[in-house]
Amino acid sequence: MRTTEKGVLRPDGPAKLTGSALYVADKPHQEALVAALVLSTVARGRLAGLDTSVAETAPGVHRVLGYEDLPRLNPLPSPPLGHTVLPMQGPIVHYEGQPIAVVLAGTWHQARYAASLVRVHYDSVERPISFWEAEAIPAAGPSMLRADADVATGDVEAGIARADAVIDEVYTTSDRHANPIEPHGTVAWWEGGQLVVHTTTQGIALTQQTLAGLFGMPPEDVRVDSRYVGGGFGSKAYVWPHIPLAVAAAKACDRPVRLVLTRAEMYTLCGHQPATWQRVRLGSTSEGRLTALEHIGSHATSRAVDYHVENMTQAAVALYASPAIALHARVQQVDRPAPTPMRSPNEAVGMFAVESAMDELAHRLDLDPVELRLRNEPSADPMTGKPFSSRTLEACIREGARRFGWSPRPPIASLREGNDLIGWGMSACAMEVHRGPASARIRADANGRIVVETGLEEIGTGLPAMVQAVAAEVLDLVPEDIRVHHGDSTLPAHVGGFGSMSTMGIGSAVHIAASELREKLEAAGGFEGLRQAGITELTAEGAWAPEPTASATGASRDFSTHVYGAVFVEVRVDAELGFVRLNRCVGVYGAGRIINPLAARSQLTGGIIWGYGHALLERSVLENERGRFLSKNLAGYVVPVNADIGDIDVSFIEDDDRRTSALGAKGIGEIGANGVAPAIANAVFHATGRRVRDLPIQIHDLL
Ligand code: MOS
Repeated sequence: MRTTEKGVLRPDGPAKLTGSALYVADKPHQEALVAALVLSTVARGRLAGLDTSVAETAPGVHRVLGYEDLPRLNPLPSPPLGHTVLPMQGPIVHYEGQPIAVVLAGTWHQARYAASLVRVHYDSVERPISFWEAEAIPAAGPSMLRADADVATGDVEAGIARADAVIDEVYTTSDRHANPIEPHGTVAWWEGGQLVVHTTTQGIALTQQTLAGLFGMPPEDVRVDSRYVGGGFGSKAYVWPHIPLAVAAAKACDRPVRLVLTRAEMYTLCGHQPATWQRVRLGSTSEGRLTALEHIGSHATSRAVDYHVENMTQAAVALYASPAIALHARVQQVDRPAPTPMRSPNEAVGMFAVESAMDELAHRLDLDPVELRLRNEPSADPMTGKPFSSRTLEACIREGARRFGWSPRPPIASLREGNDLIGWGMSACAMEVHRGPASARIRADANGRIVVETGLEEIGTGLPAMVQAVAAEVLDLVPEDIRVHHGDSTLPAHVGGFGSMSTMGIGSAVHIAASELREKLEAAGGFEGLRQAGITELTAEGAWAPEPTASATGASRDFSTHVYGAVFVEVRVDAELGFVRLNRCVGVYGAGRIINPLAARSQLTGGIIWGYGHALLERSVLENERGRFLSKNLAGYVVPVNADIGDIDVSFIEDDDRRTSALGAKGIGEIGANGVAPAIANAVFHATGRRVRDLPIQIHDLL
């Protein structure tokens, strides 16, 4: 176990606390026109006409742009685009909340008021197809985020036929929105033939390349600045319509344009996690050894995005030994805005179904849920037979049970304190490691000043402190003495701040650069030597990428590479009100070498709270008749607050996985929200005897 609580404080902390850290909407730009969008109010139809006459005479209005006024954009796939259907390129309406017009005015209020005066006429309006009526089709395709729709090993039907116990249940999860506190926004202007874009993004290089592609220009003529990002949670990973719209509007009127979305607009213009339907079948011997595991997952996706695939059937690929495993991924194409990966996509969504089913199996077999999982620990990847690069699941489960004080668990519905029913639940979790290329540069001057330059996105996860920690370790310096420049496309690029891969990629690149700098410094006789030789600066560059044989998402060809965790929770359920609170949570993780314990703990604590929202609160209600999210605000979309959350105990299993990254690190950004929802659902069952198979668990489920 790691015992040190020591860590590196965030160098970006003081600027944020004092308010001097500027986010896109705050950045002053005197000449910028302020844009407001007019969005479609129908989900499926055709734009018949736009009456802008009243809006154009409103105070402060500069211009009202329809699709005919904007330049044509080159088509690109999704990703990198959020919606494959490009904004304001034609009259077809593909989803409710699609941009129809851009109003440019002197101030925000003028633009918003004028936008309300634009009259939109539609024809060919049709009732949208909803999730519950669309046909489920195999989720296959060329996108790098799509696994094969159907994968199997062994014979599931034979495994079910010889099982002593079978669980066959359906689980559902709700539509969810990422809701970062900083709204999406872009300030764009053209300087000669060059484009400057200040935007809030998890993908600086991706945005640069995408805008270059859309507008038909070389990437080096596009400069993207994204110094601070006030949360993204996946919603800022892809390029969403407001970014090219701000650029196109700036081009159309030859003025800088500032376009900041409202909270409501973010409900249709930057993705959501799609509602899912999942069926899990488990077969087991009476001793609790799996004979079959089948997971079928289907979800809504949008016609406006080819289709997005929520790879929830990845949940169990490396979790348990079973002679037969079959996974079937389906999508249902409907008329709604595009879904997108949202922290934590894929496994965390599927984990609810798989780990709820495992709890149901443990109950059926009268076996402790911890013991059931330990009995199915595989010695190699159960789907592929590949060796694990490192495997910490069993250690996570054992350590979690110890820290929680799990054994012996009291009988179901036996713990009560006043009005509260108390329950204990647990879940295992795993998430495939994604990896991508990264680069970094490091400079040292003769006075001993060290600067690391990297185009990383500072999305609140603590990456600059990670960079300091890595460079300081190599150079044998104090982390605080290393400055980190980040957030700009002119700096060395990396794949992007998503997929829990930044520490692996950027950290490894910084490690390589710092090691080279150290050699150069030693050869020069240290800083003293530099001064004597009159050398003002030394620089070193480092680049890291997964081995060439790795998959498009960076998965190793030779090893099964995952991060692991075990989550143990105690919930209190108000017996009269049905209200569930998280009393305490123990999360133990095996996530490679932990570079900065302080930030790592913070990430996983936040992930657990995120998982609590998944389990008990978050639900975007879609009005099927209109293909429209009903509650486009934080009053109707509930997220956890301090009062909801009790004691959270996060710890790590010693793990140093050099097969996964040069640094020995793996991803920690998203494993924390994994396994929380099933642990809570399992604890609610333990408290009440009531099994809830639909997320979020709502009060009426427990009354
Ligand atoms: Mo995360 S959904 O990969 O930003």
